[in-house]
Amino acid sequence: MNILLFGKGGQVGWELQRSLSLLGSVTALDFDSTGYCGDFSDPGGIARTVRALRPDVIVNAAAHTAVDKAESEPERARLLNATTPGRLAEEAAGIGAWLVHYSTDYVFDGSGDRPRVETDATGPLSVYGATKLEGEQRIAQSGCRHLILRTSWVYAARGGNFARTMLRLAAERERLTVIDDQWGAPTGADLLADVTAHALRHLRHSPGDGGLYHCVAAGETNWFSYASYVISQARQAQPAIQIKATEIAPVPTSAYPTPARRPLNSRLDTTRLQATFGLTLPPWQQGVARMLAEIL
Ligand SMILES: NC(=O)c1ccc[n+]([C@@H]2O[C@H](COP(=O)([O-])OP(=O)(O)OC[C@H]3O[C@@H](n4cnc5c(N)ncnc54)[C@H](OP(=O)(O)O)[C@@H]3O)[C@@H](O)[C@H]2O)c1
Repeated sequence: MNILLFGKGGQVGWELQRSLSLLGSVTALDFDSTGYCGDFSDPGGIARTVRALRPDVIVNAAAHTAVDKAESEPERARLLNATTPGRLAEEAAGIGAWLVHYSTDYVFDGSGDRPRVETDATGPLSVYGATKLEGEQRIAQSGCRHLILRTSWVYAARGGNFARTMLRLAAERERLTVIDDQWGAPTGADLLADVTAHALRHLRHSPGDGGLYHCVAAGETNWFSYASYVISQARQAQPAIQIKATEIAPVPTSAYPTPARRPLNSRLDTTRLQATFGLTLPPWQQGVARMLAEIL
């Protein structure tokens, strides 16, 4: 199987380089790759790359993920999250390739407290959410064979992440305040990459199972409880760790105004993914504890 991976340097892209390598030969590109264009601000260049390589599977981990910045550069966010993925999907349809793409809980309005299923009504609150939703729609409309995984609160050991930020702040300050009214599930980039590889193997034999799925770790938490878990785990794993914070205080979202509105309810129901692909998604704490063991 020939696989073309876009966004190889991102959290998910990095892990995909590992998980996809078992399925065949992977050509992995980033926005500044030489030889083939991997720059999503150039839809024509991306189309030429697909035509030149004629892969069996295209995996798109590239995106405009700066949620607050997207509010002030909506055209660029739309180009990266909707226009180019749409063009990619048309090219995939043209050569009969599969397209794997990632989307987000931010396509929902976050009302209520019920985990959303794939068929629930969308209602993005931000430019990021709206452009990601448009990307999903363009892919579905292109008629290409596709797998779209909507996920939430992605972290990875590599690069900056929420856990690392909390540990840094806890080392610097005596008191931390963290939002406690946004609910979701922290999901490891490694988990997403592994699910992608499993699903692609399954789709080889059951191509009718393509489509849109929710993919997050099991369980739920809020940012305050997530931060508290990170700090208590860090203390256990490394008793000598420098932690100055003696208090972590819960605060509402309104205490931290940001350019982009974020959904309060980011819970996603993963029943469809688990049943279709025969997978059991692990509790979010498992992946976070593993990531902490890696970064501490
Ligand atoms: N992160 C989350 O919490 C989250 C939640 C839900 C869904 N998702 C979705 O999951 C997918 C993977 O996200 P992630 O967490 O791995 O994000 P990420 O780490 O920000 O990765 C995105 C990648 O896209 C690259 N990129 C930026 N501009 C580009 C361009 N013009 N052309 C090509 N590549 C470009 C980025 O490069 P630079 O880093 O150099 O800019 C980065 O390597 C995305 O579709 C995202 O929308 C993420």
